[in-house]
Order: sequence, then C-alpha cells, then structure tokens
Amino acid sequence: MRWQSAVQPLADGKGRMKSKPYYITTPIYYVNDRPHIGHAYTTVLADVLARYQRLFGRDTWFLTGTDEHGQKVQEAATKLGIEPQAHVDNTVVRFQEAWKRLQISNDDFIRTTEPRHKIIVQEILQDLFDRGEIYRDEYDGWYCVGCERFFAEKDLADGQCPECHRAVQRVREANYFFKMSKYQDWLVEYIQAHPEFIQPDFRRNETLGFLRKPLQDLCISRPKSRLAWGIELPFDKDYVTYVWFDALVNYISAVGYRRDDKRFSHWWPAIHLIGKDILTTHTVYWPCMLKAMDVPMPKTIFAHGWWLMGSAKMSKSLGNVVNPMDMMDRYGVDSFRYFLMAEMTLGQDASFTEEAFIRRYNADLANDLGNLLNRVISMIGKYCEGRLPTPPPGIFEKEGPAAELFEQLKAVATGLQADLEHFTLSQGITRVIEAVRATNRFLETQQPWAQARATDRGPLHATLYAASEALRICAGLLYPLMPTKMTELRAALGMENPMTVNPEELTQPEGLEPGRPVAAPGALFPRIEAPLPEAPPAAAPRPAKSAPVPGTIGHPEGIITYDDFSKVQLRTAKIMSAEPIEGAVKLLKLNILMGDERRQIVAGIALYYKPDDLIGKTVVVVANLAPIKLRGVESQGMLLAASKGERLRLVTVDGDLSSGAVVK
Ligand code: MSP
Repeated sequence: MRWQSAVQPLADGKGRMKSKPYYITTPIYYVNDRPHIGHAYTTVLADVLARYQRLFGRDTWFLTGTDEHGQKVQEAATKLGIEPQAHVDNTVVRFQEAWKRLQISNDDFIRTTEPRHKIIVQEILQDLFDRGEIYRDEYDGWYCVGCERFFAEKDLADGQCPECHRAVQRVREANYFFKMSKYQDWLVEYIQAHPEFIQPDFRRNETLGFLRKPLQDLCISRPKSRLAWGIELPFDKDYVTYVWFDALVNYISAVGYRRDDKRFSHWWPAIHLIGKDILTTHTVYWPCMLKAMDVPMPKTIFAHGWWLMGSAKMSKSLGNVVNPMDMMDRYGVDSFRYFLMAEMTLGQDASFTEEAFIRRYNADLANDLGNLLNRVISMIGKYCEGRLPTPPPGIFEKEGPAAELFEQLKAVATGLQADLEHFTLSQGITRVIEAVRATNRFLETQQPWAQARATDRGPLHATLYAASEALRICAGLLYPLMPTKMTELRAALGMENPMTVNPEELTQPEGLEPGRPVAAPGALFPRIEAPLPEAPPAAAPRPAKSAPVPGTIGHPEGIITYDDFSKVQLRTAKIMSAEPIEGAVKLLKLNILMGDERRQIVAGIALYYKPDDLIGKTVVVVANLAPIKLRGVESQGMLLAASKGERLRLVTVDGDLSSGAVVK
C-alpha cells in the first residue's frame, strides 16, 4: 500500500506523482523573552510536522524566527544602556541555542531586523500607501504596551487591556491607518467558504464572533517621538511601523515575496501554527493585509492551546514558567519532545506536571516500547546467537500471525498520515503505541520461548523477525518525534543506515537484513522510579559548587533511581543552640539533637534567621553526609531549606514528632 489520503499526490506532467510543497511556520518569538515551554511547544510541533512531511517525501520548508522591534525591546535596551540592535543580537542567541538543543530542523530563521525583511515591509507599505489603502488620521484611544496594540474604549475589559488584563495608556496622536474595515464582509465570506482556513472549528467560530462587531481600520504607525525602534515608514520618516504589521510580513519576506516570484509561489501558501492568544492578529489582520496586497490566503492557521501549570496559567508574575532547558537536562531531549506532542490534544489546553511526564514516559516509552525492544533483542541473543534470524519465506504474504501483525502496522502508517493532515497528532502517536502493544501481545501469543524448544526453528524465526520488523516500522514512524532515540533503536536492530527513514520501508515488509548482529540488551528508556524533588536547596554551603549528577548508565541525564535516592538518610533533629561564626556573615554554628545523638552543623542561613529564633525548632537533616570543615568549623550534616529569589525557609515537620525520626 502507498501513502494516499494526506499527501495529496499531484501528477507532475510526466506521469509521475508529485506532492504539493509543504510550508510551515511558527510565530516569531519576542526576542526579549527567554525561551519557555510555550515557545518550545510550537517549535517542536512545527518541527515534528515538518520532519513527518520530509519523511513522506514531500518538499518541505520550515520557518521560525524572532520578532525584534517594538516598545518592550526599546525599553529593555535603554535600561541596559545599550543600542536596541546590540540588545537583540545578544538575546536572539537564547532562541537559536534552545532550538539547536531541541533538535529543531528549521530551514530558515528570520529576524525582523534583517535587511531582507525590512525592505519588503517598506515596499509593501509604500505600495499600499500609493494605492490609497493606507491613510493619515488623528488617533484617540487606548494602547496596551504589553500587547503593543490599540483598543477602542468599548473593547476594554473593566478599563484594562481585553487581551492581557494589564493597565492601558490613553494615546492621542496623528497616525497612519490601514483600511482594514473594508475587508470585513469579504473575510467573513472567505472564512465560511474555507473550513480548513482557521482550525480548530471553535477558533474559527471565535474569529467569526469577533467579526460580528464592526471592524476598525488598523493603526499601523508609531511616532518616533514615542517609539524609535522599528521600521521607518517609507513615506514619513517621523514614524515607524506598528510591530504586528512588521512581524506578520516575515511569513512572506522569508520565502521570496517581491524578490523571487518562482520561489515564493513554490512555497506559498503556508500553514501557520500559532497559540490561541494571537488568533485575531493572524486570522483578521493578516488575511486583510494579504488581501490588500493581492496575495493568496494562507492554507491554514492552526491555533493550539496553552500549557498550564497544573491548572494555573503559566506566567512570569506567578513564577511558574517551565524552562524547557531544565526539563531537557532532567529527562533528555527526545522524551521531552515526545511528552509535549503526546500529552497535548492539538487545540486543547494541557496541564504540565512532572508527574504527568513520568507517568507517560514510563507507560509508553519504558514499559511498551523500551521493553519490547529489550525482549526482542534478548531473545535474539539467547536463541539466535545475537543475529537477526532468517524468516521462513512468505510469512508476511500468507495468512498467519506475522501477516496479520503486518496488516495492522500498515494501517497505523496510513492512519498516522491522515492524522497529520487533520492535526490530530496525539491520536497518530497513540496509534503507533497501540501497535507496539499489539506486538507485545503477539509475543505473548506466539511464545517464542516455547517455540525455541521445538526442532523446527521456522516458527521461532518467524516470530522474532516479525517482532523486529514491527519495531523497525514503529521506530520509523516515531522518528520525527525522537530522532536520536529512534536512530538508536533502529541501529540496535542491526540497520546499516538507521537515520535514513524512507516512506516505502514503512509499508513494506522485510526491511531488516537477516544475519545482521543486533545490539546487546540495555535500557533505551529506563524506567523512572520516583518523581524527582524540586532542585534541592542547600542550607549549608557546600565546599564547592557540586557538579551535575551524571546520568546513571542507561538513565536520561540527571535521573536517579529509587535506590540512589534511598541512599540519602534524612532525619528530624531539634536545634539546641545557634551562634554566629566569626568572619563568616552567612554562616551559623548549630548544635542539634538527633534522637540521643548530638551533632554540630554549620548552615548558611545567617542572613535569613537570627540565632535565637532557631532554638527549639525541629528541622530536617541529611544525616549520612560525610563531615566537612567550613571556615575551620566542622559540619556533621546538612539542614534542608527551601529557597526562592531572596527568601529562604527551613524545612520543618508538620506537628509534633520527637527528634531523630526517619524522613522518607
Ligand atoms: N511576537 C509575537 C508573534 C508574532 S508572529 C507574526 C508573539 N510572540 S511570543 O513570544 O509572545 O509568543 C509566541 C507563542 O508562544 C504564541 O503562539 C503563544 O501562544 C505561545 N505561548 C506562550 N505561552 C504559552 C503556553 N504556556 N503554552 C503554549 N503556548 C504558549 O506573540
């Protein structure tokens, strides 16, 4: 069977089938920000979709980048006392490095401060101005610096920005306006006639709801007296371009608009992935701008949901923004990518918790996929001298268990491809994991350990070869999500070019070469036994900054096992006395009672506690830490404390408990 539904094959005129090129974009991120899980999510999603299309042989272009103009950048640069350009040059690196670590395979990275972009924005503005699509007028209204958007009084929410609920400023000034209002009726009709244009459905309805109110013209300028950091209007040097009018153009300036018609028409129209918070700018402003420029509409604008922390919104002010780097350090890049894609139903919000991560990792990757690989290569090791067995001829064609398993795999591959077109990625991933489970069940029913006792090796070889084939195909199908781990998996099956996955091999049997040696068993996805605590606060200073925990063999870097954790003995203790240490402003010398044992501990808590306030407190102590000397004073253990920003609090027990109790 060949790929059909989703690639939409087209004849290339020579009788060969050819797919339409695939152009996918992410929003361009505010360069001021630090990459967080929201940015990482959209970028990994675009990466996974692009990698799937490339895998299925489709001509693919994947664009991401940074939004570098506007008031927030100007303010940040002024605070630092540097030029805005120097500031953005410094901060853009954070995104570029994050994407490198996350294995993002973007074909281009556009920055809105690049000449190739600025000149196109200016040409568009001049053209629209010459054609009367842009006019000058007096503006009197409200402005949100955070969103860099103007709002009419009637649109405010209790006097605040209707988008971010922050305070707005009253602004009165002459400005330039884009005649957006005249496209309102056309846009409503276009949206209604093209169901694939705004997705999911409920977001299309949200935009149509917005368009029930009269659409205002769009203010596209900012006077330089107020904001100088932007693209100068070509027809009035006292103004710069409104940051959204500038930013949206990246999607076309990056692929040759007005410079290379052939290239532009090859890639355009795009699929834009966005978060739900930037729906109006993408589904109202952008289509009207394109219509005025006489450019075809984007193919699809898909708005995904938000990652919440538990059930709370993630925000800087709440201090609960997940740093993707931390997650990658703890659990590895591939499993982080897998979790993001498998856990969020595209379009819906999802809750990010470490427990959810561990649950999914253990279920899908450790128990199902990792375990299947281990079983298969262990048995090949045991029964076939570590080499892939030669299956009896025709096992995938004739009726029988191997052919049945293979039919299921083909259906998964086809289903997954349709899921990609329909933006039901998590469903596609579930299909593959279901196929892994089906293969585990196949082993249960075939019982290769019993087949190994028979003189006829045929059934045993058929079972182990078919299970290896299932693994090869599932790993190929999961490759866009976990490029490194799936390469390792395919290499473990003895594949010569494990990194090259081609579409044919995913629907055809016998892709593995009998006789090739398989790897020795080992854990591809070792089980995570217990959730990790938050980064441990060190109340007592350590002699030197401790090195990161090296990855246990076979464990993602930073993960420890239950056994590792159980080596740490935590006990309650009562503070009997506390006194400063001469010449060490941060340290206190404490005398503690742990059961009937007295100990001396040096703790770095002098800036947070007065000695007298500590006496009588029951605290938690790491009891089996080797003693060290700090400023010449011996410390026989360490107190636990929690710290955040400027604050530090000792960890104590909830209620009465005599000292010396074991903490577990
Ligand atoms: N610069 C504009 C986009 C211009 S595109 C022409 C912008 N940048 S942003 O850096 O603030 O946000 C980029 C994306 O991150 C948005 O799509 C937003 O939805 C997404 N996310 C921010 N926080 C998020 C979560 N907690 N979860 C998922 N995505 C979220 O807006």
